[in-house]
Amino acid sequence: MKDAGATPTDRTVHLKDYTPFGWKVDSVDLTFVLAPHATRVKSRIRFTPTPEAPAQDFFLHGEDLSLISAAIDGTPILPEQTGAGLTCPVPDRPFLWEAEVEIAPARNTALEGLYMSNGMYCTQCEAEGFRKITFYPDRPDVMSIFTVRIDSDLPVLLSNGNPRAQVPGHAIWHDPWPKPAYLFALVAGDLRALSDTFTTRSGRDIELNLWVRPGDEGKCDFGMEALKRSMDWDERIYGREYDLDIFNIVAVDDFNMGAMENKGLNIFNSAAVLASPETATDANFERIEAIIAHEYFHNWTGNRITCRDWFQLCLKEGLTVFRDAQFTADMRSEPVKRITDVIDLRARQFREDNGPLAHPVRPESFQEINNFYTATVYEKGAELIGMLKRLVGDVAYARALDLYFDRHDGQACTIEDWLKVFEDTTGRDLSQFKRWYSQAGTPRLDVTEEWENGTYALTFHQHTPPTPGQPDKLPQVIPVTLGLLGPDGTEVQPSVLLEVTEAEQRFTFPGLSARPIPSILRGFSAPVILRREVDNAERAFLLAHDSDPFNRWEAGRALAKDALIRMITDGAAPDGAFIAALRNVSTDETLDPAFRALVLALPSEDDLAQTLHDTGIIPDPQAIWSAREAMRDSMAAEMEQVLADLYDAHQVPGAFRPDADAAAARSLTNGALMLLSRRDDGARARAQFASADNMTQQIAALSALLSVDKADDALARFATQWADDRLVMDKWFMLQVAFAAPQNAARVAERLAGHPAFDRRNPNRFRAVFGALAGHAAGFHRADGAGYNLLADQLIALDDLNPQTTARMCAAFQSWRRYDADRQQMIREALSRIAAKPGLSRDTDEMVSRILEG
Ligand code: TRP
Ligand code: ZN
Repeated sequence: MKDAGATPTDRTVHLKDYTPFGWKVDSVDLTFVLAPHATRVKSRIRFTPTPEAPAQDFFLHGEDLSLISAAIDGTPILPEQTGAGLTCPVPDRPFLWEAEVEIAPARNTALEGLYMSNGMYCTQCEAEGFRKITFYPDRPDVMSIFTVRIDSDLPVLLSNGNPRAQVPGHAIWHDPWPKPAYLFALVAGDLRALSDTFTTRSGRDIELNLWVRPGDEGKCDFGMEALKRSMDWDERIYGREYDLDIFNIVAVDDFNMGAMENKGLNIFNSAAVLASPETATDANFERIEAIIAHEYFHNWTGNRITCRDWFQLCLKEGLTVFRDAQFTADMRSEPVKRITDVIDLRARQFREDNGPLAHPVRPESFQEINNFYTATVYEKGAELIGMLKRLVGDVAYARALDLYFDRHDGQACTIEDWLKVFEDTTGRDLSQFKRWYSQAGTPRLDVTEEWENGTYALTFHQHTPPTPGQPDKLPQVIPVTLGLLGPDGTEVQPSVLLEVTEAEQRFTFPGLSARPIPSILRGFSAPVILRREVDNAERAFLLAHDSDPFNRWEAGRALAKDALIRMITDGAAPDGAFIAALRNVSTDETLDPAFRALVLALPSEDDLAQTLHDTGIIPDPQAIWSAREAMRDSMAAEMEQVLADLYDAHQVPGAFRPDADAAAARSLTNGALMLLSRRDDGARARAQFASADNMTQQIAALSALLSVDKADDALARFATQWADDRLVMDKWFMLQVAFAAPQNAARVAERLAGHPAFDRRNPNRFRAVFGALAGHAAGFHRADGAGYNLLADQLIALDDLNPQTTARMCAAFQSWRRYDADRQQMIREALSRIAAKPGLSRDTDEMVSRILEG
């Protein structure tokens, strides 16, 4: 931490302090004269005072800008500058602000503002990057119409909106839709396009381009198809049409996150858009389809309707994640999408909620907004939309969304605006629902049951544990989808929605002829932790009979957890009954192969660690690792024939297609391969590796070989084959760490960081190695602290270059209080070492402080 004088609280921003900007921005004209070390940005901005103006100083954000000149209505001025921006006296009437600044995109390694990647210029302005491009009121509630001129000899010059002029040497773009500065984008480079068109339902032809570096042209087809599917889906399902003549997507190698929804000019991490059968896995294809959809859907939920301030981030992100999940469910398998989303929610959001970084879906303060692009804002934010839809019903949800788009088009809105739309369409009071936005933490929902004279009763008791700054919580409205099964497995009570609104609440179901088996929280109808005394016979029954696929999977998951926890805590042997249940499900040919693959996968090490912690046991990462290994050995031994049959029966013939059915089959065969490799010494994996004509099969084979430590040849051949493909080489880096034995993981990561192809400045490569280390629970938590120390060293080195990615990766340490005193001490030391780095970024400083103090 910084010393006492410069406490980080100095620059904490609070939701309660919101005040509107005192000027309207009527228009923005920008001219960029591009040069790597001295780009000139000229701005002409028309301001008109609003009634708020007299109470305010005129302040424009600006960071790392050299001011060349500034003028108001043509008169040169000398503004007062600080590191955050400038102030100057302005007239009490509309005026023209003109400024020229110089910036150095080639030196911008933070990848925020205007920067360079492989000779190409590109921008990232969300959340507060525009202020590194020119002086401006860089806040989302200031929306304006932008005209942009780019002067450069590079062949492709792009910005937002529609092109007005494109001639050698310069281009002019005009965006007719008012937008906040965070949606500004500029790209310039030697790029190639895959082009196509989309005709909207009102008959307008939209030009579509996917721009890539020369050599990547063959990896564009899938992204383009995904874009057209997204455009069609948003018209059909939400009635939303695209609103410019052209839609551009650009792939860039150096990017801090997945992608960015800049108006008419989406910019993507190349890993989140480029795909070919040879280079991308089924998981990559699915993720790319979802991210293309996500960014496209932002055009309405984010761009046409944006956020008043960054505290409202979930307004656009929660809703857009919800929409992209609906899209994926429609394109692929709805139950499989739901199950994988819940696995992800528990792994990342529950983890956040259970530790020092817990914060509400709508936070009330921050120091660095980049640190709040979190699983809580995005994924829990999406869960809140899902609950709202469940509570009001599909028809009312559709009506509320129509009203939202009608009422708020062109505005910068709040969560209050969003909820009001639902209140106005349904007449429902959502004041209790609103607590979901302000209370952090995952509610615990305890359930007890009674059975008497044909009446079955369930009593729910809800409680949300304290989180930083929030010791006490009020009851929230929890939608619980429930079904009841009879002893023969038939449904005696089809799904009903119970609304739990009280701290304690009882529901009765009379007129039953036998005691039912409850299926509670079907479809994971609320992001809560359900707790109930239940035995394994009942879990096995639900795994065999529940009509709700989510709860079927959940029952299998509970069996797996119970078996593993007994192995970890009591030294129990792998549970034969559990493996027998797995055998039944995995051979049930009426079930989706993807679902069966999910049932075969064990709960993660982190999930088990949290479960142990919740029951008052200090998790031993090595013991957890060993238990999962032993369980897999038993599964492989006892199911060997079944797995071999599955492996053979579900092979997908013919040319690779990335569709859901083919991917599902491969997920099952490759899940089987992983286990079978323990029995056949990697023979099948070696054969698959040799014959693979697509990356899914190749990576699965390589992973299986790595998992049994038989991958030396395959790794070398892979590296030779793919040396020139950055995205594939990321996989090569990542897998070696992910599959290292716990005692080797840190050593492997350190060795790879010395590899000539390791480049700390490329976030994908850095995450491939060190994200994998952080995700290798037993390796990262090695008892001698080698994992902690290595990650701390690397983060200290990265912070000077890229604060945003450094800060995000500090989250690797967030669950430190779960562990024993020695590990806690070592983690505290590692974090303190980061905190003490001279010149530590605000981003990293905030994260380290929150993790240590929360
Ligand atoms: N708004 C983007 C999305 O959700 C994500 C985003 C926010 C981002 N800040 C960023 C992407 C910084 C890259 C860099 O789609
Ligand atoms: Zn988003």
